Amino acid sequence: MSLLGRDLAIDLGAASTRIYVKGKGIVLDEPSAVARDAETGKVLGYGADAACGGTGEVLGYGGDAACGETCWPFRDGLPADGELARRLVRHFVRKVHWNPFARPRMVMALPEGSTPIDRAALRDVAFDAEARDILLIPHALAAALGAGVPVKDCAGRMVIDIGRDSARIAVLSHGAVVASGTLGGGGQAMNRSIARLVEREHGLLLDEREVEAAKRSAGADWKPLHRQVVVRGRDVETGRERAVPLPVQRIYEATRQPVESIVRAAVGIVERCPPELAADLGERGAVLVGGGALLRGLGRRLRTALCIPVRRAERPLECVALGLGQCVDDLGLIARLRRLPGSVGRRRA
Ligand SMILES: Nc1ncnc2c1ncn2[C@@H]1O[C@H](COP(=O)(O)OP(=O)(O)OP(=O)(O)O)[C@@H](O)[C@H]1O
Ligand SMILES: [Mg+2]
Repeated sequence: MSLLGRDLAIDLGAASTRIYVKGKGIVLDEPSAVARDAETGKVLGYGADAACGGTGEVLGYGGDAACGETCWPFRDGLPADGELARRLVRHFVRKVHWNPFARPRMVMALPEGSTPIDRAALRDVAFDAEARDILLIPHALAAALGAGVPVKDCAGRMVIDIGRDSARIAVLSHGAVVASGTLGGGGQAMNRSIARLVEREHGLLLDEREVEAAKRSAGADWKPLHRQVVVRGRDVETGRERAVPLPVQRIYEATRQPVESIVRAAVGIVERCPPELAADLGERGAVLVGGGALLRGLGRRLRTALCIPVRRAERPLECVALGLGQCVDDLGLIARLRRLPGSVGRRRA
């Protein structure tokens, strides 16, 4: 191991942070959460200690959940709260790096459409966590690499990343992002739709954790639609706790609107592509990554609407970290992609 420490790849997701250590793989996967004392602002815990399952629920500190608030300092791959973001990443990097004097190189994802200010914010986060150098890789390129897409291929391919707060759609060709768009409708939007449906039809208010559990139990894989999940919430009128059985079919239907927004955005991007690239997409299709890609039936719905082949990546939650990890394992990969015509390569922040 180098005296300067092993290089790291860090996927700064709104819901989860994943760290890949060179030669080792993903060694950390924790909620991107910081718990603070609501009154004094003092930090009470980070990551898994601060949140429960990425749902925003505070675990009780000193047995009293009410005393803490959970903050999520990243949004759309960028720091939304600079101070907390820096502290969180510093905490995670120290957790995976035993050597206090190590100054590793760090590879991070740069969301499409980022400004120089955004790049500077990512640089601050990395240097604050003792990075000696930072490499920024286009987010969609990292996701595609992690999903096993042959990015050097000149043929166009689409990558759809459905995270917590947003869905990012990009078309890649020659190892570069040639068209992209982001819309604010990730897993959180699906949760809101499910919660609205349960409130409308059953007069029940569900908390975040309950909605998340219901959505996940609808399952990524095929299960009978008549199967029911039981959800527990507070009655709108009486305020009492009550449980109702909810058919998986209803959960599926509740997510129709956010899924349609993704489809519309993807169609818009295909329409903006040059005709030869659009023809490539018809043949090579799209790959789904991010936690939202685990929603049951999403691939089929996109396939029908876009009329292109759509597949879900093998490890959708980890694709971006795995793609960044490939760049860490083989720094020459970035240089080679950079040499391809039209590609976006290494950027020093
Ligand atoms: N089995 C599942 N079924 C449906 N949705 C799921 C499942 N598992 C996770 N999700 C959803 O995936 C989302 C989190 O995905 P992911 O971890 O890719 O986000 P992130 O990378 O942290 O965020 P972002 O990319 O937006 O910055 C959450 O909204 C969660 O509800
Ligand atoms: Mg993500």
